[in-house]
Amino acid sequence: MNQPASPSCAAAAPQRFALIPAAGVGARMGAKIPKQYMTLAGKPMLHHALETFAAHPRIARTFVVVSAGDGWIDELLTPELAQRISVLRVGGATRQESVLNGLNEMRAAATVGDDDWVLVHDAARPGLNAELIDRLLDTLAEDAVGGLLALPVVDTLKRGDDAQRSQETVSRAGLWAAQTPQMFRYALLQRALGEAAAQGRIGAITDDASAIEMLGLQPRLVEGSPRNLKVTLAQDAALAEFFLKG
Ligand code: CTP
Ligand code: MG
Repeated sequence: MNQPASPSCAAAAPQRFALIPAAGVGARMGAKIPKQYMTLAGKPMLHHALETFAAHPRIARTFVVVSAGDGWIDELLTPELAQRISVLRVGGATRQESVLNGLNEMRAAATVGDDDWVLVHDAARPGLNAELIDRLLDTLAEDAVGGLLALPVVDTLKRGDDAQRSQETVSRAGLWAAQTPQMFRYALLQRALGEAAAQGRIGAITDDASAIEMLGLQPRLVEGSPRNLKVTLAQDAALAEFFLKG
């Protein structure tokens, strides 16, 4: 006869981890140092996202992926931050390789379950705040796939040719601009990125959700915020500072 499951048999509530790829060189920014270490509103850019995650009570631990020869990260981690953050020196050639290496390495540094959530967040998005993290966690808590912060596209879109002439107006209906964090179960994300790498497709994708889509799954789109912009070009820094100081 079947016994009802006792509470001790019930699956433990999943933990939530943050994983921050910060192993890029910032080529498009064209600064002397990698852009994640440029000063923005009085602190290195990476410091903003690290502090936000380290201070968030629902995030069990934060992992930051840097390149093997990174000489800046140790200076940036105060003793207080270092208690909540693990540095993984396993940066790869592309963002997705850095994320996959970080996922593989996380398990050596902490007890991470297959069903635990991982929030992957760009070091280059300093405007993330606790409210946006909570919105993502709350919306996806019971989601079978996971999802990401994103913004509905509001501009009129044109497809240009090589001569920079507009060929057509592209409908923006249903289009969203992807942000981060992108939040998926540990084992699912590791499998998705692992398969993309095995198929030689990891270089062609620019976010984590793309790898999940390649498995035939549909990540949930959760409304993000303009303040969560990615700092890519020199002119983005001033706007990011505006939001950080506001
Ligand atoms: N990233 C990474 N490993 C790489 C490339 C990028 O961890 N090999 C990280 C960056 O540090 C950044 C995030 O992925 O936090 C988003 O990438 P992007 O904005 O493209 O940063 P960069 O690759 O550094 O910039 P660029 O493409 O202009 O060189
Ligand atoms: Mg890049």
